[in-house]
Amino acid sequence: MRLMLLGPPGVGKGTQAKLLANAHGVPHISTGDILRGEVREGTELGRRAKDHMDRGALVPDDLILAMFESRLDRADTRAGFIADGFPRTIPQAEAFDKMLARRGLKLDAVVTIEAPLEELVRRSAGRRVCRQCGAPYNVYYQPPKTEGVCDVCGGPLYQRDDDHEETVRRRQEVYRAETAPLIAHYEAQHLVRPVDGSQPVEAVTAAIQKVLAR
Ligand code: AP5
Repeated sequence: MRLMLLGPPGVGKGTQAKLLANAHGVPHISTGDILRGEVREGTELGRRAKDHMDRGALVPDDLILAMFESRLDRADTRAGFIADGFPRTIPQAEAFDKMLARRGLKLDAVVTIEAPLEELVRRSAGRRVCRQCGAPYNVYYQPPKTEGVCDVCGGPLYQRDDDHEETVRRRQEVYRAETAPLIAHYEAQHLVRPVDGSQPVEAVTAAIQKVLAR
């Protein structure tokens, strides 16, 4: 299965991608997670990406394309992948089309997920992540049993640098301007499968399974 999840920040792409990746035994490729790893490790890529990420802007296409292509070429993608947060601009989408074509591969579907703006802002501002194992929480929707502590591994929870309200709103604007036009790009390829992301997590998962089974 080669799937792409496309939607605004906070709509639940990462949450659903993890569930789908486990269910289908394919890797979840999140460009945001890879970039945050590079920042944490203090690599040259992380250093160049950090300022863009902290401002809620996109990281330049050339850096993202090289990073994604090298991830795509790892052996674990042979059975497929769930792409989350990539591509995010028309030049990235066009380069991705060529990347797949060079390898004789095709996407099975592009699942587009949407929810109302204020719900997206609330979800992002309420997000907390385990620093140790990456498990996601939300102070409004999915709080941990003990405040600030991961239920899974006991690690400390933190708030992402780009999840403060002003940056969250900026990221929403960037999505509408630069990423939403990708829906038309993939509609032209008859790949788009829309899903209502305003429902609870389990209902969104069921809706995705339903559109994929069609
Ligand atoms: P990235 O990490 O990809 O962030 P994003 O796309 O902005 O998406 P989010 O992670 O904020 O949201 P999500 O849709 O995954 O929602 P989630 O499941 O976490 O990118 C970060 C930055 O990296 C970018 O701004 C950019 O700078 C850079 N970058 C990354 N890729 C790039 C690219 N290709 N090109 C250029 N730059 C790039 O859920 C959010 C919260 O809501 C969680 O707390 C969750 O528990 C909760 N939640 C999820 N679903 C539900 C539900 N149904 N009901 C209630 N709560 C829910």
